[in-house]
This record gives sequence, C-alpha cells and structure tokens, in this order.
Amino acid sequence: MPRMPNPTRRTFLRSGAALCALGSLGGLPAFGAAGFNHKNRLAIPPLDLGEIKDGTREFGLQLQHGISEFFAGYETPTKGINGAYLGPVLRMRHGETVRLNVTNNLDHDSTLHWHGFNLPASADGGPHQVIRPGDTWSPSFEIRERAATMWFHSHLMGQTAAQVWAGLAGMVIIDDDTADALDLPSEYGVDDIPLVLQDRRFSRDGSMAYKSSMHDRMAGMQGNYPVLNGTISPYLEVSHEKVRLRLLNGANASIYNLTFRDERTFQLVGTDGGLLTAPVELTQLRLAPGERAEIVVDFSDGAPALLESIGGRGMGGEQSPTFDLLEFRLKAQLAPSPQVPEKLADLPVPDADSAMRTRRFLLEMPGMGMGMMMGGGFTINGEEMDMARIDHVVKRGEAEIWEIENAGPMAHPFHVHNTQFRILDKAGRPPAPAEAGLKDTVLVEPGEVARILIRFDHYTDPDRPYMYHCHILEHEDAGMMGQFTVV
Ligand code: C2O
Ligand code: CU
Ligand code: CU
Repeated sequence: MPRMPNPTRRTFLRSGAALCALGSLGGLPAFGAAGFNHKNRLAIPPLDLGEIKDGTREFGLQLQHGISEFFAGYETPTKGINGAYLGPVLRMRHGETVRLNVTNNLDHDSTLHWHGFNLPASADGGPHQVIRPGDTWSPSFEIRERAATMWFHSHLMGQTAAQVWAGLAGMVIIDDDTADALDLPSEYGVDDIPLVLQDRRFSRDGSMAYKSSMHDRMAGMQGNYPVLNGTISPYLEVSHEKVRLRLLNGANASIYNLTFRDERTFQLVGTDGGLLTAPVELTQLRLAPGERAEIVVDFSDGAPALLESIGGRGMGGEQSPTFDLLEFRLKAQLAPSPQVPEKLADLPVPDADSAMRTRRFLLEMPGMGMGMMMGGGFTINGEEMDMARIDHVVKRGEAEIWEIENAGPMAHPFHVHNTQFRILDKAGRPPAPAEAGLKDTVLVEPGEVARILIRFDHYTDPDRPYMYHCHILEHEDAGMMGQFTVV
C-alpha cells in the first residue's frame, strides 16, 4: 500500500503541538515542500436542483454508506447523501415550496436537519424526527429565507457528532431576486464555489473512525487533516478575476481563523442568513462550526494564493487549528469580473426596544471529569439536554432578547433553530460589521455575554420543540442543548 501523504511540512510543523496534545498519529514522516503544492483538484459537489412536481420542488436524498478515497490507494469507510461522503448542493428559491424525500439506507437511525431555515417544527429534522433504517421522511415547507448559504446535517440525539463526522452533511444555496440583481460572481463551480470546511483524523490505514477520547469529548473532536468538500490537500483552478467562496464550517469542533498566506484583503458579502447591507473588507475571518460566510476574493494581481487557518485562542490554542486549506492556481488569462457592488441587501436596524422579554442562557462545563466520563457534563442554565423537557415556550411574532453567557473556558458557537437573529452586542460592544447581518449561530467567547434580538415569525406547534445548542457537536451531544416551542 502506498504511504499516506502528510499535510504540508509547514502545516505539520505548525500544528505539531496540537497533534501531540490530541494524542493522534505521532511520528509523521516529514514530507514535501512548503505550501502551494496541493495535490488534488477540489471536488465540487454536484448541484441538485430537484424536480418541480405540482408546483413543489422535490428532492430525493438517500442516506447511505460509502467508501471514499481521500488518499490514493486507501479506502475509507464514510457516509453520505446521494454519494459516499457529504451530499449534493441543493439549490432552491425564496418563495417556493420544497419537499425533501429523505430515505435512510443506513443500518442505524438518523435525522436530517435543515440548518438556518424557518420551518414547521415537524419538518425541522432535529432529534424528534428520527428516520429509521429503510424509512423515508418527507418534510415540506416554504422557503422563507433570503438568498443565502444554508446547510443540512444529521441531528440524532447523542449521535450528531459521530454521524456528521462520517459525512452526513451538505450545503444549500437559496436564491432570490435581490441577489440575482447584484453583480456577484454566480457561476456555480466556476466563480461561485461551495466550500465545506472540515477536518478529520485519519489513522495509518486511511480510516477515520469516530473514536473520541475523554479529551475529545471535552475539547471537541478535531482532525489531523483539513478536508474541503471531501478533498485532502485541494487546489482550485481560478479562471475569473474574482471568485465568490461560500464558506461553511462543517467541522465538529474547529473554529477556523481564515486568512490568505499573503494577507490579501477580501470582501465579506454574506453571513449565515444572507447578504450584508454592504461588503466588509477583511484580511481575517473567524468562522465557528455551523456558521457560513460568503466572501469575494480578487485574484486580478495574478499572484497565486493560499487560504489557510491560523491557530490560537481557546483551550491550549487547540480550538483553532493551523492548517493550509486551499491553493488557488491562476490561469494565465483571467476573465474580467465586475466590481463588488457597494450596496447589497436591505436589513432593518435591530431595535432592542421592540423586545418583550429577556431570557438568559448560561453555558457551563461543570462536569469536566466525572460527567464527561458518563457522556455528559455540558449544561445550559445548569441542566443537560432532556428530550422530555421543554425549556422555553416562546410566543410567535414577539421579539425577545436572548442573553447568552459563556462561563466556561472554551468558546461556544450558540445556534438557534427556526430563525435568523441579529447580534445586539458582545461583551457590551456592538457587533463587528462582519457580525451585524442575519445570523443563526453566534460565537460566544469565554467570559463573554452575547445579546441577540430574536423572533420566530411563522409557525406554531405546542407539542414539538425546536433546539438551541452549542454547535461544537461533542458539546451538543454531551448536553449543551435545550428545547423551546413556539405557540
Ligand atoms: Cu446545525 Cu441544531 O443544528
Ligand atoms: Cu439548526
Ligand atoms: Cu461548546
């Protein structure tokens, strides 16, 4: 069998400490030259437009076992949706009704959750909508979101981390008239690139079995290799001056600090729930599990580029690993791209005075040690997730302030189902421009209080709850999740 390639030497050196702390491979042989020598063409997930039947856009999704070849000559058992690993990119449009026929061909229970969507609780795909092996689940709902990059993933109670790790996730692109009218790069796979960012821990035999140690359950499961759209060591051929990247952090636990090796600027145009009011120029973007960002990168200077994630912060710096992510190889001639529009979407200014009440959510890790050995140990307001307990009952259409306090030593990305909210402030300061748009996940740093303005406009169901939780999947599985109904 061929020897598994290593991440670039530079990556290895820079992440060596984290690797040792994670107790993984160890003794990796040195390999290759520094950066810019990525081996594999970035996989672009197939675009799935579904099929219009009686005015409804229908998708057929098969959860299945598969074999992936991340490393040439190595067969890695994985799970996927209509494929061996991850799923297609589903494309749908604001205002239309979709139906998703999800068939479970796995040998175990699963679910599929539509992350970022306003939708009936019965269609949410959270822990209460279990799909048994052999069954098909067919939720249907109206697309109420604006143009945005959303996603879907398994959400089985206590098993989300293992199932997403195996590959049960995918991206959704929503279109609308506002976005169509803007001159943003929009040719799928050409200058509009989906990018599912993950990392996976591979063993010598090429397998990436989900085996979490005590440390993994506390810090979250991280990999020794970054995997982008299921590709190890990827490069992207650039044929246009400007490229839009639809970034999705689909990792179990890693918070990526994204930047380019040459520190070039890029324009952030959208966040979780869609376009910002205006582009924000950045050189670095922190993207936590569950979050999405759309950025436009200018390659007209002709210089090759490398997207990387730089380490730091969190427990021992491990929450943000150092990785070379994606090499951009420029064609000799780049097709011209228009300027990024100065004005993007209209967003109301969040009005904190409109809130009818405030709810508090205290995130803690009190069970470090015993609780974690038992598979729990992560709490919100002192309690671990209980499927039989409704923690909050919210009135439809009433704005509220949710105050999320992180009392632990790690950063937690707090996600709420069935809505897009706005960040009012973090640690008393108004959100940075990059966080001022529509969000469904907010990263709360250790010791920080984040206040969000939140409302659930569309659906009520007194019996079926939605979830809020930390999107570090090991934390979610270990109890850092709660339930609310909308009435
Ligand atoms: Cu991305 Cu409750 O999920
Ligand atoms: Cu969600
Ligand atoms: Cu967490």
